[in-house]
Amino acid sequence: MSSETVTIIDDATGKKVQLPLLSPTSGPKTIDISTLYKELGYFTYDPGFMSTASCSSAITFLDGQKGVLQYRGYPIEQLAEQSSYLEVCFILINDKLPSRQELVDFVNEVTNHTMLHEALKRFYSGFRRDAHPMAIMVGVVGALAAFYHDHMDIQNPEHRRITALRLIAKIPTIAAWSYRYAMGKPFIYPNNSMSYTENFLNMMFSMPSEVYHPDPLLAKALDLILILHADHEQNASTATVRLAGSSGANPFAAVAAGIAALWGPAHGGANEAVIRMLMDINESGKSLQSFVDRAKDKDDSFRLMGFGHRVYKNYDPRAKLIRKICHQLLGDMESTGEQKKLLETAMALEKVALEDDYFVKRNLYPNVDFYYGIIFLAMGIPMNMFTVILSMARTIGWITQWTEMVSDENYKIGRPRQLYTGPIDLEYIPMDKR
Ligand code: CMC
Repeated sequence: MSSETVTIIDDATGKKVQLPLLSPTSGPKTIDISTLYKELGYFTYDPGFMSTASCSSAITFLDGQKGVLQYRGYPIEQLAEQSSYLEVCFILINDKLPSRQELVDFVNEVTNHTMLHEALKRFYSGFRRDAHPMAIMVGVVGALAAFYHDHMDIQNPEHRRITALRLIAKIPTIAAWSYRYAMGKPFIYPNNSMSYTENFLNMMFSMPSEVYHPDPLLAKALDLILILHADHEQNASTATVRLAGSSGANPFAAVAAGIAALWGPAHGGANEAVIRMLMDINESGKSLQSFVDRAKDKDDSFRLMGFGHRVYKNYDPRAKLIRKICHQLLGDMESTGEQKKLLETAMALEKVALEDDYFVKRNLYPNVDFYYGIIFLAMGIPMNMFTVILSMARTIGWITQWTEMVSDENYKIGRPRQLYTGPIDLEYIPMDKR
């Protein structure tokens, strides 16, 4: 630990407290305030975690000013170019590059766990036909806890490893079935002779009555999208998984909590909102500037969806890569006139916004959600499945972060404090006297 400190002086009492200043491998130095309450009797206040590191972690590095994202030290651009999603899963969970044999063994192990317990199938029929697939995801992934609970010891590294494998393996099956159920189509079982993403596309789109060959171009594009979303350090859903898991809760239940957090439009749900916005723009016949003006108007709740990020104050590196894939894919595919129009609108909107003083001053750039919905539409994936696929990709990040937390012998249950602003010491008035 560094010997640097920061001194806090209490103006009221003159008492001085020296707090350790921690140095990360990279990124801002961090004041360790854990003794502050003991020393001064004060809490710190930081709603939305604007300046607070909620944990230490060696998994994902993100520099929002420079637009850098790295998993276990490997830049996202290199992984996107040269790796595969399952290799990225291996790297995240094992903290090393696999040898050729290790990767083969890992892929085989994941492939062996793709089936769901038959009883889990019955959970789907409990949902209304029009249930949002994310609601189904929360329910069914949470239900996995019921299947793997009694014989699971979260302190046992082998149990943790198997849990990670099970989650990565089963999540495409759960995700595809949430779509099939809503469509009233039969569930397609995993096909272990296919690659991870081919198998997902097969479970999404094939019919028992027809031959279906997943398009390798789409499978490759999907693999890339999964790589780009595999982890993103302490965002709302990951922090939720850590907090839920910190009580010693079942990891499947903790991951279900993460899926619930991801669903919101300020987080993973933004991709759906981006497409709706682009469609609205195209249908309205109004100028792009008029939408940008609305986004700037504080009396209007409209925001440019897919713009801005809590951490990135530069171009989101994932958005750059996704924009590239989007161009390649739409260029290579036929009959995507509608998606091409959406892409053109997205690019024109990006240009107008990036030249606007409001966006420039606030460092608002396109984020990861801005372009990938267009790719999904081109793949035939409906809008309500966008966030489901994101949750599929992020499952490895969540379980790796959970594993890191519970492997640390000194981890504590997460228990934030509060700045109470409600009434105190009121006198209860019996019902007949009110
Ligand atoms: N359109 C218009 N103004 C915006 C936007 C936007 N998309 N994003 C931020 N601003 C303004 C905001 O009004 C504020 O202005 P002022 O300083 O005058 O009050 C300033 O920029 C800072 O924004 P903030 O809301 O305080 O920043 P935040 O870090 O709390 O919010 C955000 C980040 C992503 C929730 C926000 O930028 C947003 O709502 N974006 C649109 C939704 C979106 O695309 N979400 C996906 C996030 S990336 C995927 C993920 O990581 O999950």
